[in-house]
Amino acid sequence: MSFKYFMPTQVESGNGISNKTGELIKELGAARVLIVTDKGVRAANLLEGIEKSLQAVSLDYEIFDDVEPNPSAETIRRAIDYLKEHNSDAVLAVGGGSSIDTAKAIALMAKNPGDILDYEGVGKIINPPLPLIAIPTTAGTGSEVTNSTVITNKETSFKLAVLSSYVYPKLAILDPALTLNLPQGITASTGMDALTHAIESYTSKAASPISQALAIQAVKMIGENLTKCYFVGTDIEARENTLVASLMAGAAFAQSRLGNVHAISHTLGGVFNIPHGFANAALLPFVMKFNLPACAEQYKDIAVALGNDVSGLSTIEAAKKAIDTVIEMNKSMNIPLNIQELGVSLEYLPKLVQDSMRSGNVLINPRLTKAGDIQSIIEKAYYGNLEETEAGDIPQPKIPSLI
Ligand SMILES: [Fe+2]
Repeated sequence: MSFKYFMPTQVESGNGISNKTGELIKELGAARVLIVTDKGVRAANLLEGIEKSLQAVSLDYEIFDDVEPNPSAETIRRAIDYLKEHNSDAVLAVGGGSSIDTAKAIALMAKNPGDILDYEGVGKIINPPLPLIAIPTTAGTGSEVTNSTVITNKETSFKLAVLSSYVYPKLAILDPALTLNLPQGITASTGMDALTHAIESYTSKAASPISQALAIQAVKMIGENLTKCYFVGTDIEARENTLVASLMAGAAFAQSRLGNVHAISHTLGGVFNIPHGFANAALLPFVMKFNLPACAEQYKDIAVALGNDVSGLSTIEAAKKAIDTVIEMNKSMNIPLNIQELGVSLEYLPKLVQDSMRSGNVLINPRLTKAGDIQSIIEKAYYGNLEETEAGDIPQPKIPSLI
């Protein structure tokens, strides 16, 4: 067994701790902070305590609040101009994965030549970034402790990943109080994103004992707490547990990478601009069904972590309980059970297959995956057809096959 473990982000967690953001940033030696966020976070008054804490320690700050879902390279270019205009020397992300990923790209490109699109892939960043502090306001992304940022190239409708040890934030601040008023839909989609991270990380070919320990504990904590957050949004303990679990899943997948769910969902996000978490949640049972023969033991562990009693069951039967539980979670939180309802069209199937295969996540998916497999998963997820069905039993789309 050989593996590497590296997670350099300082983590500060606790109810109300975002009110100490100013002190914590001051310790990093920053003087002028650029806050990167979106208009929803601002409208929900989530910046109030954070801004007060910056003022209390006399830290200058400016706010860039133009982050959009599935953030684009254009937005990053505009934000860098804004940062340079104000001479900021640190970047503070407050928001969901889109804000944190945008802030990561800004911190990198403030210190590196060229354009963010030049850095697609692994280990291409040349210079250390500006210090980056991340405060997640959703329990899902895990981006506050990961070494990657995902950016959309709108010209090609492609979501590309930039991976480097320089991408890790310096500091992650977890304050469950910021997640108390999240709407049900965002609670559900981001929470299922976190569960997908944990499941894909646990079963990745690149998993290690350390990443698996983080991932399986994250599965357990999300299973115990996510639907509580959905139905009783003000349950601070459940909110805190899902926020910590989301970070743990992020810390796990930063080491192990992910799998076919993310390979396909990034593609769907790039082409159809659909919410990342819903795409993952809807795809997850279909990819798990595909992977079942390759990782039944791990799915059995996941079934147990999700609260199933598997005594007396065969490994395969126990493993199937994990898939059943994911479907039940989706149903209970009103998440579509197919990707058609999310706005996916099979008209673009050849591009969807090609772009998904370009993802590095396919290579570490537990079951060897070819283009035809991705096509089959997308088709099954489109029709909501989880069972093995004979050709002809379901409506067949009129599309050219890639293989
Ligand atoms: Fe994700």
